[in-house]
Amino acid sequence: MKPAVLAQRLSPLMPMLRCPRCASAFRLTDQSLVCEQNHCYDLSKRGYVNLAPNHDQEAEKYGTDLFESRRIAFEGGFYQPVLGQIAALLSGEPLTVLDVGCGEGWYARMLSQSFPQAQFLGLDISRDAITAAARAQSGANWLVADLKHLPVADHSVDVLLDVLTPADYAEFARVLKPGGKLIKVIPGTDYLCEVRQAVAPWLRNGGSYDNAQVMDHLKQHAKIISANEIRTTTPLTNEQSHAFLRMTPMTFSVPEEVLASLALETITIHMHVLCCTFE
Ligand SMILES: C[S@@+](CC[C@H](N)C(=O)[O-])C[C@H]1O[C@@H](n2cnc3c(N)ncnc32)[C@H](O)[C@@H]1O
Ligand SMILES: [Zn+2]
Repeated sequence: MKPAVLAQRLSPLMPMLRCPRCASAFRLTDQSLVCEQNHCYDLSKRGYVNLAPNHDQEAEKYGTDLFESRRIAFEGGFYQPVLGQIAALLSGEPLTVLDVGCGEGWYARMLSQSFPQAQFLGLDISRDAITAAARAQSGANWLVADLKHLPVADHSVDVLLDVLTPADYAEFARVLKPGGKLIKVIPGTDYLCEVRQAVAPWLRNGGSYDNAQVMDHLKQHAKIISANEIRTTTPLTNEQSHAFLRMTPMTFSVPEEVLASLALETITIHMHVLCCTFE
C-alpha cells in the first residue's frame, strides 16, 4: 500500500491517536506520524504504523507455521460463535472500536465488514502479527503498539476489545469514553481441552487450566454488565487437528515429533464473553 493511501485511511483516526513516548498529538504527513516533540513514525508500505519501533521482535513467537495454523482454525468457523457474541454487543451506532492484542486481526477484520460505519483499529506488539493483519483486505487499520502504553488519546474509544490477550485496566479505563465498553473474552476451563490432554506431560499442572485469577483481576477493576458462555465441541479433519496442535503458545515446548504423532478427533471452544464498564 502506498504510504499516501495509508495516510488517507488514517486521517479519520487522528483525533484518537497520540504519541506513545510523550503523549502529545500527532500531525499526519504523506509519509509519517509526527508528534509535537518531533517523534516520528513512518507509515509502512505494508499498510500499518509501527509505534513500538524499539520493541525486541525476536522475543515474539509468531512464525509462518503458527500463522498458517491460526488461519485454518479461524477459517474453519470454530470461533464464529465468539464473533457472533461480540457483534451482538456492538450497537448499530457509528463506533470507534480498538482491538488490543489483535493478533492477525481476524475479529477486527470480520467486524469491520459487519459494521462498515464504525472505525476499527487493531494493535499488537508483534510486528509479524500486524503485518499479517494488514495484508488481508479490510476496513480496519493496524498499529504495532504496546497495550500497556496505548498510543491513544484519553476518552476517545467507544468499545475496547480484548480477546485472549493480557490486560492493563488503568490504560483501558483511560482511553474509553464515559460509558464506553470493554469486551473481554477469556478462555473457559475446557478451552482446547483436547490439546491440553494430548500434551499434558509437557505442560505445567498437567495442562489443567483455571481462569479464576483472570476473573478476579478483571472484577477488581471493572464492572461486568453481561456475561455469555460459549461451549462447542466439533469434529476435526486431519488438517484442522494439525492446526489446533500448533496454533497456541501452549504447545511451543512440545517436541515436533510428539505433535506429529498426535491426531485430535474433536476440539472444544469454551469462552466467556464479558461486557464491562469502568463506572
Ligand atoms: C493469544 S493471542 C490473541 C490474539 C487475538 N486477540 C485472537 O484472539 O486471535 C495474544 C496476543 O496478544 C499480543 N500481546 C501480548 N502482549 C502484548 C502487549 N503488551 N501489547 C500488545 N499486544 C500484546 C500477542 O502478540 C498476541 O498476538
Ligand atoms: Zn512524542
